[in-house]
Amino acid sequence: MLKVLVTGSSGQVGTNLSLALMKKGVSVLGIDRRPNTWTNQIPFLQRDLAAEGMPTPSALNAAKPGFDRPDLVISLAANAKVHELVIDPKRAHENTTTTFNVLEFCRIQQVPIIFSSSREVYGRPDPPCVSEDEANVYHILSPYAAYKMADEMLIYSYAHCYNLKYLIFRLSNVYGRYDSDLQRMTRVIHIFIDQMLHGKPITIYGRHKLIDFTYVDDCVNGFMLGIEKLLNNAVVNETFNLSSGSPATLIQLANTIAAKLNVEPEIIDQPIRPGEINFYVADLTKAQKLLGYEPQVTFEEGIKRAIDWVLEWNKTVQPELLKIEHGVY
Ligand SMILES: NC(=O)c1ccc[n+]([C@@H]2O[C@H](COP(=O)([O-])OP(=O)(O)OC[C@H]3O[C@@H](n4cnc5c(N)ncnc54)[C@H](O)[C@@H]3O)[C@@H](O)[C@H]2O)c1
Repeated sequence: MLKVLVTGSSGQVGTNLSLALMKKGVSVLGIDRRPNTWTNQIPFLQRDLAAEGMPTPSALNAAKPGFDRPDLVISLAANAKVHELVIDPKRAHENTTTTFNVLEFCRIQQVPIIFSSSREVYGRPDPPCVSEDEANVYHILSPYAAYKMADEMLIYSYAHCYNLKYLIFRLSNVYGRYDSDLQRMTRVIHIFIDQMLHGKPITIYGRHKLIDFTYVDDCVNGFMLGIEKLLNNAVVNETFNLSSGSPATLIQLANTIAAKLNVEPEIIDQPIRPGEINFYVADLTKAQKLLGYEPQVTFEEGIKRAIDWVLEWNKTVQPELLKIEHGVY
């Protein structure tokens, strides 16, 4: 049975991906510094990978036999919010310690890695769309982006010096399921949904910001294709854009949510905040060619599904999971 170690398994992508892998019969062990607030289905070790480093192989083996040397590590653990890391850049620095510790495990145990980078590494690219080789260190806009770029560079150096096998996915605004934890995360789609559901005004930082929103199932599908290709040595040591290829502006986002909820929100316009990008539309050609990736969910369909998920989740959420203390970091 395939054994996949997922760091950041209590996060949005980690939860969706781990559950999807488990559904396919893959053996998953998560590591996260906080419990999962959506599900208790994912076996995991609670550990801060920056402060404490990776568990020893024997600790991993004790947690789940065979995980001293898993077949693959999926490295998602990070402080993942651009604006929060502008306020507190130490948390961006921490991300690279986390990645370093995970990479050392992969180097010593000779395990391939899939790393989640970000479209933030492009800074402010030019329309109409952005291909992978347009990342440029001089265009970095935020500490979060700087350390994602550093993480990528560390991985490239490990591939060169130690034959580490890797794939990197540059994600962009993943949304749709297990992402509604507003006490911990501040993600635009759920902030808008929540504010509109409660009849509050919404604040838009840059109404014409054009973003390649990614429905979560497209993201998970991209990872699944990457896992298969990497483990078969069919695609190794490549970096990919991963998104739905169905961009929208923030004002379009607000209007789409408002129409679905049948409300007319008061909109407060604010300028774009320091460190934030104002345009990102991915060129997905490379993922299409090498991975056979084809995004399936348009922006309108994805927002509809996301709202349906929130409304359903709000009805069915399990009280014991909500009791877990939020804001651990
Ligand atoms: N979701 C997106 O839209 C998006 C976009 C671009 C990049 N990414 C990247 O994808 C990855 C996953 O994103 P996400 O949306 O699931 O984020 P998330 O915040 O929901 O999850 C990240 C998880 O990592 C854990 N974590 C952070 N630092 C840790 C540490 N030192 N030790 C142990 N656990 C730690 C957190 O507790 C959290 O559960 C992140 O690396 C993020 O930067 C995500």
